[in-house]
Order: sequence, then C-alpha cells, then structure tokens
Amino acid sequence: MNFYVKTISCLAIYLFMFLLNVSLASDPSEWSPTWRLPPNKRPENIVDEAITVPGDIKKSQFFSPNTCGACHPEIFKMWSGSTHANAWKNPLFQALYNLGKKTAQGESQKRSIESCVRCHFPVGHSSGDKELPVEDEKGGVICDFCHSVRATTGVGNAPYILNPGNAAVMEGGTKYGPFADSPETIHKNQYSELHTRSEFCGGCHDVSHAGNDLPIEQTYTEWRQGPYNTGDPKTSVHCQDCHMRQRPDFPCTGSTERPDNPGFATPEMMGGIKRPHIWTHYFVGGSVVPISLPPNSELQPQMAIDRLKNAATLEINGDLNVEKDGLLQFKVGIENSGAGHYLPTGLTELRQMWLEVLITDSEGKLLFNRGGVDESGAIDPQATVYHTVFGNEKGEKTLHVWEATHIISDNRIPPKGKKEEYFAFVIPQDTKTPLKIKAVLNYRSAPQNVVDSLMGEKSIKLPVINMTELTKEVGL
Ligand code: HEC
Ligand code: HEC
Ligand code: HEC
Ligand code: HEC
Ligand code: HEC
Repeated sequence: MNFYVKTISCLAIYLFMFLLNVSLASDPSEWSPTWRLPPNKRPENIVDEAITVPGDIKKSQFFSPNTCGACHPEIFKMWSGSTHANAWKNPLFQALYNLGKKTAQGESQKRSIESCVRCHFPVGHSSGDKELPVEDEKGGVICDFCHSVRATTGVGNAPYILNPGNAAVMEGGTKYGPFADSPETIHKNQYSELHTRSEFCGGCHDVSHAGNDLPIEQTYTEWRQGPYNTGDPKTSVHCQDCHMRQRPDFPCTGSTERPDNPGFATPEMMGGIKRPHIWTHYFVGGSVVPISLPPNSELQPQMAIDRLKNAATLEINGDLNVEKDGLLQFKVGIENSGAGHYLPTGLTELRQMWLEVLITDSEGKLLFNRGGVDESGAIDPQATVYHTVFGNEKGEKTLHVWEATHIISDNRIPPKGKKEEYFAFVIPQDTKTPLKIKAVLNYRSAPQNVVDSLMGEKSIKLPVINMTELTKEVGL
C-alpha cells in the first residue's frame, strides 16, 4: 500500500516537473489565457484560435491616438488623462521594469520581465520590436489596440487576437465596439459583444507570473467570483458599468447610481449619431499622482478621490457605556460597499489601505492614536495594512514581482464583504468626558519609502486619501 502511494506521488512529481519544463520552454502563446470560459457562456468572439504573438503584426499598422482623436475629440481627451495612456511612460513602471531587467536571474524571472510589455505596450509586444522607446506615441494602452481586438481566447495574460488596419497606407480597417449600426467612415465598424463585458478588461486585468504561474493581479477573477457577476451577462455589473460610466460628479461605484451618459461618439457634423449612452474613457482607479497618471491629467485626480470616497463604509460597534478607569472596547467594521472586486485590487503588493483610529476627550485632547503616518511617510507599525505580501524562493518578503514564488498573506476585503478590527483603551481617571472615537479609512498607492528608493530624486510625495470616516461619542 505504502509502496504504491510513494510510487504514485513520485510519478506525480515527475509529471509535474515534466510539465514545468515544458511550460518553461514553450512559446508565450501557451501561457495565456489562464481562464477559458465555459463554452455556452462565452460571447461569440471568445474563440479557440491562436492568439497574436510577437511578429504577427507590425507596429506601423496601428494608428496613433492623435489620428483617432481627430474624429473622436472628447473620447481622446478623456483617454489622454488616463493611466492607460501612461502605462508605458509611467516613471514608476519604468523604474521597476528597468530594475527587473538588471537583476532578474534564471529562466523564470527573465520570462516574467519579458512579459511586462504585453500589457504595458501591447502594440509593441505584438510587433516583436526589440527597441521600444519610452516616448513612443504608440506606447501604453492605446485606442487602436483596444478597438482592433477582434477576439480573445479567454481571460488573463493578454490572450488577444488583433485585426488592425494599416496606418502606413491609411487603411482604416475595422474597429470593434458597442454599436451595431455605425456608418462606415475612414474605418469599418463591427459590433463586439466581448467589448461590452468584463472579459475584455480581464484579458489584462488578471496577471500571472510568466515563469511560475503565481497569480499576481486577479481583478477579473475577484469580480467573476463576486456578487456583481450574476452569471447572466445582462444583469451583471461589468467593469465598464463602473469604470466607463464615471464622469465628473458621477463616481459610478457599487454604492452610487450609474446613470447613462447620452451624447455623440463623433461630432454630428462628422457623421456621429445621437446615442442614449456613450461609454466614458477616463478609466479611473485609485491613482492620483502625476507619475501613474500622465502629467497633463486634469480631471482624473479628483475623479479618483470621488471613486475612493464611494468604495467603503465604516461602523463602530461595542459597549460604549463604560466607567472612567474602565476598559473601553470596540470594533471598527470596514465594508467593501463600492468596489466590484477586492478592496484594494490590482497591484496589491504596493497598494495600501488601513484604519486610523483616534480617541479624544471633550476638549479635543488626543488620548489614543493608531494608524498615523510619520514625517517620513511610514505608517504606524501597529496598524493593519490591507494588501498582499509576496514571498521569494528563500521565503523572504519581496516587492519585486518577478522574484515572487508564493503568497505569504492576503487580508484584503472581498466585494460586499466585511472585516473587523478590535480596539481596547483604558480610560484615565481624570478624563474630561464625553470622549469621541474617530475612525478613518485611508488609501495610498504605494509605500513612500518604496517609491523614494525606486525613483530617487524624481520621487514624488504620495498623498494619503481619506476614503471615509466615522465619529462616535462615548457617554461614560
Ligand atoms: C474620419 C473620422 C474618423 C476617424 C479618423 C476615426 N473614426 Fe472612429 N468613428 C467615426 C464615425 C463617424 C463613427 C460612427 C459613430 C456613431 O456610430 O455614432 C465611428 C465609430 C467608431 C467606433 C464604434 C464602432 C462600433 O461599431 O461600435 C469605434 C470603436 C471607433 N470609431 C474607433 C476609432 C479608432 C480606434 C480610431 C483611430 C484608429 C478611429 N475611430 C478613427 C469616425 C472616425
Ligand atoms: C482599454 C481599452 C480601450 C481604450 C484604450 C480605448 N477604448 Fe474606446 N471603448 C472601449 C470599450 C470596452 C468600449 C465599449 C464599452 C461597452 O460597450 O461596455 C469603447 C467604446 C468606444 C466607442 C463607442 C462610443 C462610446 O464611447 O460608447 C468609441 C467611438 C471609442 N471607444 C473610441 C475610442 C478612442 C478614439 C480611443 C482613444 C482615444 C479609445 N476608444 C480608447 C475600450 C477602449
Ligand atoms: C461595482 C463597481 C465596480 C466594478 C463592477 C468594478 N470596479 Fe474597479 N473599482 C471600483 C471602485 C469603487 C474602485 C476604487 C477602490 C479600489 O481602489 O479598489 C475600483 C478600483 C479599480 C482599480 C484600481 C485599484 C487600485 O487600488 O489600484 C482597478 C485597476 C479596477 N478597479 C479595475 C476593474 C476591473 C478590471 C473590473 C472588472 C473585472 C472592475 N474594476 C470592476 C468599482 C468597480
Ligand atoms: C492591454 C491591456 C489592458 C486592457 C485591455 C485594459 N487595461 Fe486597464 N490597465 C492596464 C494597465 C497596464 C494599467 C496600469 C497603467 C499604469 O498605472 O501605468 C491599467 C490601469 C487601469 C485602471 C486604473 C488603475 C489605477 O490604479 O488608477 C483602470 C480603472 C482600468 N485599467 C480599467 C480597465 C477597464 C475597465 C478595462 C476594460 C474596458 C481595461 N482596463 C482594459 C492594462 C489594460
Ligand atoms: C497581463 C497584463 C500585465 C502584465 C504582463 C504586467 N502588468 Fe503591470 N499592470 C497591469 C495592470 C492591469 C495594472 C493596473 C493595476 C492597478 O492599477 O492596480 C498594472 C500596473 C502596474 C504598475 C503600477 C503603476 C502605478 O503607477 O501605479 C506597475 C509598477 C507595473 N504594473 C509593473 C509591471 C511589471 C514590472 C511587469 C513585468 C514584470 C508588469 N507590470 C506586467 C497589467 C500587467
């Protein structure tokens, strides 16, 4: 019996190593997708075909965003201020990417670094160009990438099939989008169900390590497993419903209304038709500073704050009727009431969310403070930071994704889910009552010291965003 168990497990290990070897040696198309949808639940343009791989298409075939902007000026303006426009130039991305290029060791780590272009410069990836200048006008996630996606093979690690026109000879080709009745213009138009669904975004917003398959960013998977995905594409709240409806004054989160945005995709005089809803292209997340956002971004910083302010709700619970000298015990609950995925999501080894709790007496004197930030930007080490911690081969913590081999911890809050923190405080005898408990939920895109060390003199101070706060009085 024992013998068989051993033999079988040895075989399993050999098989595993064999598969690992094969996957290391295989071509990048086999690395994606990471999730194929059940056949009867796919839009028509999620298919079982070969994906576009480096060299299939030339970069010169794609139009620069300026060209699209000539007839789609409003959409161009929104997109220009977005992280998508900046995804390649982004100095924080460039710093991390270049560090990886210098320090990655071994096949697995090198493959991870080679994969970065896939989502941060997808047009350059499909052309297979060796030289991709930082200032390339086709860098980042551009119009003609997204709208030349004819199909995908599923979700994760950019499994796109592209069908661009040819800008070199001014041939517009076909643009894939939400309309079934657009008039033909410089380009043809084709309705794409894929573009109306989370699976389109999930192509890039679900990232695994290219060498060892460790799930790194799982925004789509978090959404798929959460309550905003009802299983029926018609009633599901897709990425687009929150992120491509947002505009100034309409944060469009899970806890706020998400109204239609009537208007034109192209001015009427240029052939546009009045539509009941135009999808916005601000693509706002939690990024507020002009390293993640392009330096010319005007509206996004405030829109990101609006979004973060409508992502979570707090409550304070406990027996607040205590004596002086007694022990004040209470819990602060955090609910992810507005995000369609975990809070926070995306690059969660860097993102930081944490509670700051203050207790003051009736004259406003501070008696207790947990979760404050010091002058250097460090968070009180006693505070719980909601994020993911990656480990490397040696079992040490790492912020370098290419070195990551496992997840040490992940304490983030699922969509519509809740976490509670417990606090206790001994009330001093001479306290001037009533006391006030104030809880603040904070967000920051990355630890200040990490950004300082990556960017050196070009570093920038990352603001701490107050997502929401709640105050409660303690009678005594
Ligand atoms: C000469 C003007 C012109 C240029 C240049 C132009 N478009 Fe268009 N585009 C239009 C018009 C007109 C429509 C139809 C609008 C409508 O149906 O309301 C349209 C529609 C679209 C649609 C909707 C298609 C659908 O079926 O849902 C997409 C997507 C699109 N354009 C993307 C682009 C992209 C990307 C570029 C740059 C490569 C671009 N356009 C350049 C004029 C233009
Ligand atoms: C990250 C991918 C992405 C990028 C980049 C992008 N779009 Fe779109 N766009 C979409 C999606 C997805 C939709 C449809 C959303 C839906 O139906 O739910 C859309 C819709 C459109 C439409 C139809 C009108 C509307 O807004 O509803 C036009 C026209 C368009 N985009 C043009 C552009 C132009 C021009 C640019 C660059 C300035 C651009 N897009 C950049 C993904 C993208
Ligand atoms: C119900 C509304 C809703 C849906 C659906 C939704 N989001 Fe979000 N998203 C939010 C809110 C609110 C935030 C801001 C809080 C945060 O950063 O998590 C956010 C933040 C983000 C961020 C920035 C996270 C960070 O902190 O860096 C990304 C990236 C993102 N969403 C992508 C997606 C993608 C991709 C989908 C679909 C798979 C999606 N979202 C679906 C509401 C939504
Ligand atoms: C080609 C890959 C690609 C596709 C497709 C794509 N994204 Fe992104 N997205 C990115 C990258 C890369 C970034 C990060 C750019 C940066 O911060 O430098 C990003 C950033 C974002 C952010 C901002 C996050 C923040 O921290 O502020 C949001 C929101 C977002 N994407 C939503 C979407 C939605 C919604 C869709 C589908 C309509 C989509 N994306 C499709 C690659 C993609
Ligand atoms: C499969 C697609 C994909 C691949 C491959 C990928 N990324 Fe990203 N990256 C994203 C998306 C989507 C976001 C936005 C998530 C968010 O804002 O939280 C992002 C955001 C980032 C950011 C945050 C930028 C900012 O200003 O906040 C950095 C840095 C980054 N990626 C570095 C890398 C590096 C380095 C690699 C290669 C080792 C890489 N990425 C590979 C999709 C990808």
